[in-house]
Amino acid sequence: MSAEPSNSLSGQAASFGGVADRYERARPGYPGDAVSWLVGPPPRRVLDLAAGTGKLTRSLIAAGHEVVAVDPSEDMLAQLRAALPDVEARLGTAESIPLDDRSVDVVVVAQAFHWFDAPPALRDIARVLRPAGRLGLVWNDRDETAAWVAALSQVIGSEDAVQDPEPPAEIAQSGLFEPAESAEFRLEQRLDRATLLDLVASRSYVAVRTPEERAGILAEVDRIFDAYAGHGDDAADPTLVLPYLTRCYRATRR
Ligand SMILES: C[S@@+](CC[C@H](N)C(=O)[O-])C[C@H]1O[C@@H](n2cnc3c(N)ncnc32)[C@H](O)[C@@H]1O
Repeated sequence: MSAEPSNSLSGQAASFGGVADRYERARPGYPGDAVSWLVGPPPRRVLDLAAGTGKLTRSLIAAGHEVVAVDPSEDMLAQLRAALPDVEARLGTAESIPLDDRSVDVVVVAQAFHWFDAPPALRDIARVLRPAGRLGLVWNDRDETAAWVAALSQVIGSEDAVQDPEPPAEIAQSGLFEPAESAEFRLEQRLDRATLLDLVASRSYVAVRTPEERAGILAEVDRIFDAYAGHGDDAADPTLVLPYLTRCYRATRR
């Protein structure tokens, strides 16, 4: 069962549930310094909104925060509950958050704010934040300056590649937050063939394709792995390194 995201992207936004196991195996986490910048010193009560399988939740717990995780996909939350059985995990959407007014110090959204219907989501985020509470947004953008990453983008598109560094305009437009601050961090992920294929298959753009289209995309990615991996010291155990720019924004509730 899943709560229905209430925006026009709901079909694609809802596609993650069908690839939750691949998502959990292949997606990267977030740099610790990015998490500190977003949330501040522990302990805080933090809502991980659109928590998915709990990639960011793990870092929040490791940093010493108390976390409640919310996501509309029961399949994604099942992965989170398996990895983090002690974390409070609730089914819900950003536009209708299942928490009381003024009940958290920080709301963080990793890799998901673009899926929200921003005006109602920002209103509900402001509702659950305590006075002077903080909203933090983060995205891991693929860095296409590496030749193999540029080749990958030719096949899977650039929507997850490095994006406009400006904070999402809806934050200022809402009138609910002080001006957003920005910061960037770096992250690298080493991928073997199976993990690269899982990473590509876990993208919503690929998940919504027909089985035939998906198989064609994965065959192309397989060829990229053959072309670029295993020419150096790791020839016996080939891997590729995927660089990311981790884009972060934080804004204090007025
Ligand atoms: C790319 S995943 C990110 C998951 C996790 N935050 C991470 O960093 O790995 C996007 C998540 O947004 C969730 N989602 C989509 N629409 C949503 C909405 N309207 N409200 C809350 N979550 C939503 C999906 O179910 C999915 O788990």
